[in-house]
Amino acid sequence: MKTILFSLFLGISLGTFGQDQYLKDHYKFPIGASMNPRLLAENDAYRKLASTEFNSVTAENHMKMMLIHPDANRFDFAKGDEVVAFAKGQQKRVHGHTLVWHNQVPKWMNEFSGDTQAWEDLLKNHVQTVAKHYQGQVAGWDVVNEAFLDDGSLRPSIWAKNIPDYIAKSFQWAHEADPNAILFYNDYGQDGKPKKMQAILNLVQELQARHIPIHGLGLQMHINIASKNDEILSVINQSQATGLAIHFSELDIAVNPKNDSTFVYQEMTKKAQQQKFELIFKAYQEIPKSQRYGITFWNISDKDTWLRGYFKRPKEYPLLFDESYNRKPAYSQLLKNEK
Ligand code: XIL
Repeated sequence: MKTILFSLFLGISLGTFGQDQYLKDHYKFPIGASMNPRLLAENDAYRKLASTEFNSVTAENHMKMMLIHPDANRFDFAKGDEVVAFAKGQQKRVHGHTLVWHNQVPKWMNEFSGDTQAWEDLLKNHVQTVAKHYQGQVAGWDVVNEAFLDDGSLRPSIWAKNIPDYIAKSFQWAHEADPNAILFYNDYGQDGKPKKMQAILNLVQELQARHIPIHGLGLQMHINIASKNDEILSVINQSQATGLAIHFSELDIAVNPKNDSTFVYQEMTKKAQQQKFELIFKAYQEIPKSQRYGITFWNISDKDTWLRGYFKRPKEYPLLFDESYNRKPAYSQLLKNEK
């Protein structure tokens, strides 16, 4: 009798628990999300998903220049540290984002004036102070973010303007500060922009030829349901061919990119979005194992997406969890698909 009961128990347990219940357990590479420390602290549903669904964490904003280095002589690590503490407490990996960017730059940096040496000192101090602070706590860094325009030219920014060779220098400085960190160049919208993609590939070649440490490419993957699959796949192939680690670093799939105020998130759109998520996951698994740094979503639920906040598109639904923090069918499908 005992044996029968035990087998019954085992059968039911395996039936219920035998399958993977979370993407992070289903796939053999890290599944991440960018996170917001206020939501982690205040929103139970958010924190629960953050805990159960992901094994890699990126701070959505709090390691960026503007927030972490608000004054010339003051760094503020408090919120970034909160995100790290959350991740550490649950043995999750942390991905650092981002050391050098043209956006979310504090006012004092934008207004800084000085000669080349003074600008170099400023940026070196920033990169190395932040990288040292998080040394041993982050697995990798987006060292330079979005340095190229669509036509492949160097984006005009205070960094490009004031510091010759700023990209290579930033990688070198980051490596000196945290020699174990995996160092990424991160960018968006390479699909359908061959010149931008080429500029990134040229950068990799050039840095490697000069023995400047670069270890990975971040493809942000802010795409939408109309993004062309062949263009996305071509970008993935070209990136992978560098042999570097590949991170899909900010995945979301917009369904209402034109911000149509009458937009309704209908079955057909949901299905198209799901198929794109499936395509992305499938393509990622075709990358050699040793190059798979992981797939990171840009925040957790449709309620938290930057597309609603930053772009003011209230009718946007780009993620795998809905506004009530429930799984969407696309999530369930990814959980069923071959791993
Ligand atoms: C976005 C955040 O999600 C917003 O909250 C913030 O207001 C602006 O930045 N590329 C990046 C990210 O590398 O850092 C950006 O994050 C989204 C685009």
